[in-house]
Amino acid sequence: MRLIVGSDSAPYMHTRQAFLTALVALAGYWIARLGLQPLKQLSKEAQALRPKTLSQRLQLAALPVELSALAEAFNGALSRLEEIYRQLEAFNADVAHELRTPLANLIGSTQVALSRQRSAGEFQEVLQANLEDLERVRSIVNDMLFLARADRGEVATGLVLTPVTQEVRKTIEFFEFVLDESGSQVGITGDVQAEARLESALFRRAMSNLLQNAIEHSLPGAQITVTLREEAAATWIVVSNPGAAIDEQHLQHLFDRFYRVDAARNDGGEHHGHGLGLAIVKAVASMHGGQVSASSEGGVNTFGFSVAH
Ligand SMILES: Nc1ncnc2c1ncn2[C@@H]1O[C@H](COP(=O)(O)OP(=O)(O)O)[C@@H](O)[C@H]1O
Ligand SMILES: [Mg+2]
Repeated sequence: MRLIVGSDSAPYMHTRQAFLTALVALAGYWIARLGLQPLKQLSKEAQALRPKTLSQRLQLAALPVELSALAEAFNGALSRLEEIYRQLEAFNADVAHELRTPLANLIGSTQVALSRQRSAGEFQEVLQANLEDLERVRSIVNDMLFLARADRGEVATGLVLTPVTQEVRKTIEFFEFVLDESGSQVGITGDVQAEARLESALFRRAMSNLLQNAIEHSLPGAQITVTLREEAAATWIVVSNPGAAIDEQHLQHLFDRFYRVDAARNDGGEHHGHGLGLAIVKAVASMHGGQVSASSEGGVNTFGFSVAH
């Protein structure tokens, strides 16, 4: 007797095939998931970043090489952002501080004036004093607006080829009264024939900030010198005055907003600036494609800027 048993294996093969496919897909999924884990971690860390946590950096240690270069570049960008954010924060605090004093004066003197009956003459005196503080507030606000324009990348548009000496002379004339009073003198030397493409109003603004500083930071009767120097790519205008040596550590920051060597001495008194003078010189220079320089050698302090050709 022969018994023949047969069975159709097609469905079985089919199931096996399906099972294998599912297995491969599952394995693929897990491998991909595992591979993407660091990327997921990165994006989680990046999403958690806030202005308040700008000092945090992406973790590089656990990353595969392909990702660590990306994360490093991202960390670099974070560092630069953090630096600028800190500067902005400090700038806001400085602005508030700078405006507070004149505003407090204004409120104080107005309250005192109103506290009892006064003659027209007395009121006039108060208003006169208030006007000075108001002008101070206005000039701080104007300077800040100007710097904001420069920050936005605005460049000088009214460039005209101008004899530099002529512009310097015009600015010096503006200081005639102050110079007479202090007995100081300003001379122009160097490449006095130099011509440069500049926007007159901007140039004079920078120039008068430099002259103002030179007069303020030298003794009465000082000889102040404006030196013009023509170089291949730019014309330099530098102002030097005799004065106490400035420490190297300060020199490099003096063009920063609100940076002063001696903040205490500069509060009120005879001082006219509010710590934005040199920042504006720097802004004017960059609006003309130029740069700034500062040095303190042999009892002479020199601050200058350049105008690109
Ligand atoms: N000719 C100078 N001699 C010595 N120090 C200077 C001179 N010019 C600028 N400085 C220093 O640089 C600081 C910043 O100058 P500036 O930006 O014009 O602000 P401000 O004059 O309002 O203080 C001054 O407070 C001073 O400490
Ligand atoms: Mg100044």
